[in-house]
Amino acid sequence: MIVTPWEVSGHVDYEKLIMEFGTSHITKGLLERIEKAAGETHFMLDRKVFFSHRDLDWLLDKYEKGEEFVLYTGRGPSGDTHLGHLLPWVFTKWLQDKFDVELYFQITDDEKFVVKENMELSETTRLGYDNALDVIALGFDPDKTFIFVDTDYIKSLYKIALRVAKHTTFSTAKAVFGLDNSTNIGMSFWPAVQAAPCFLPSVLKYRNVPVLIPAAIDQDPYWRITRDVAPKLGYYKPAAIHSTFLPGLQGPESKMSSSKPETTIFTTDTPEDVKKKITRAFSGGGATIKEHKEKGGNPDIDVACQYLYQMFEPDSNKIKELFDGYRSGAVSTGDVKALLIKKVTDFLTEHQKKREQAKKKLDKFILKD
Ligand code: TYM
Repeated sequence: MIVTPWEVSGHVDYEKLIMEFGTSHITKGLLERIEKAAGETHFMLDRKVFFSHRDLDWLLDKYEKGEEFVLYTGRGPSGDTHLGHLLPWVFTKWLQDKFDVELYFQITDDEKFVVKENMELSETTRLGYDNALDVIALGFDPDKTFIFVDTDYIKSLYKIALRVAKHTTFSTAKAVFGLDNSTNIGMSFWPAVQAAPCFLPSVLKYRNVPVLIPAAIDQDPYWRITRDVAPKLGYYKPAAIHSTFLPGLQGPESKMSSSKPETTIFTTDTPEDVKKKITRAFSGGGATIKEHKEKGGNPDIDVACQYLYQMFEPDSNKIKELFDGYRSGAVSTGDVKALLIKKVTDFLTEHQKKREQAKKKLDKFILKD
């Protein structure tokens, strides 16, 4: 298993990641506290799609005492946005709605330029603004959401990044990110830039502001470094809540990833693309219809079942019915795929409309300096 911000491969053992990364389980008690504070729960919490955290209990303590927190998340624009990226953003939107808080959204055209051998900076910047449309299309509050593309907001970030960089040794960066002597030096400084927005709200508001980062667990190495540095700079350590990965179309051993287009459903895909891709997706069903009817299938490895579970079927009773039916053989792979094709097509048709409308709203959301 490899899980870094730049590579996820092999069978991801999430329990092992909690141990290795030193994060915490989201306990039943913590779930109840979130539900109480938010006024309701979210299916991604109940189903352990968000399964791990750092200091979420501390953040709730602060919130209960009347100290407002802000949210921070982001995107590295190496291609079109895909459904996997939307997973943490959908949950982030729920958090913004329920807690009525600000969101700082970093788009890292600089990161993707230094990391990706064959990408030009002009292209990552262009993709950055295009990806921002997907964020806006999800319906974030325009008065409380601040999106910035790094190279157009670097003056505000740079002083913070420098202070983080000064307290981060090369050996730490090497150990946490797997850098070696052949890595370009842009990448060794880069983690300081992703750390900077954790402290940006405190800088902008002239007071210490608690920050919560919703993201998949691949981004956690950044927060480890940032949390070590925070007290040295006089800031709160950022809290984080981590999700699992939406698998790639090829099966549960892969993550949906922009750098592997064959694993992905993009937000710009047509209904025909969606149908074709889901029809071919990895199935946990029997080899033949007859075998499936006799022995049933395994929804835990079936890609269509997992997309419904993690993202597209919020109703837990329906999920139970579907999974029970799939295990017994009464529900076929074709049935599940047809349901998912409908859900994803409906979602994307609406999303693409909102994405078009977002072009006119972009200025309202973008921070530049
Ligand atoms: P990026 O563009 O790789 O991913 C954007 C967000 O999507 C999550 N993610 C996924 N979640 C579920 N299933 C998947 N298959 C999947 N693939 C990606 C990522 O965890 C991330 O939350 N360096 C970052 C950009 C960034 C950022 C941040 C991300 C800057 N600041 C703060 C999160 C929080 C990047 O390249 O993300």
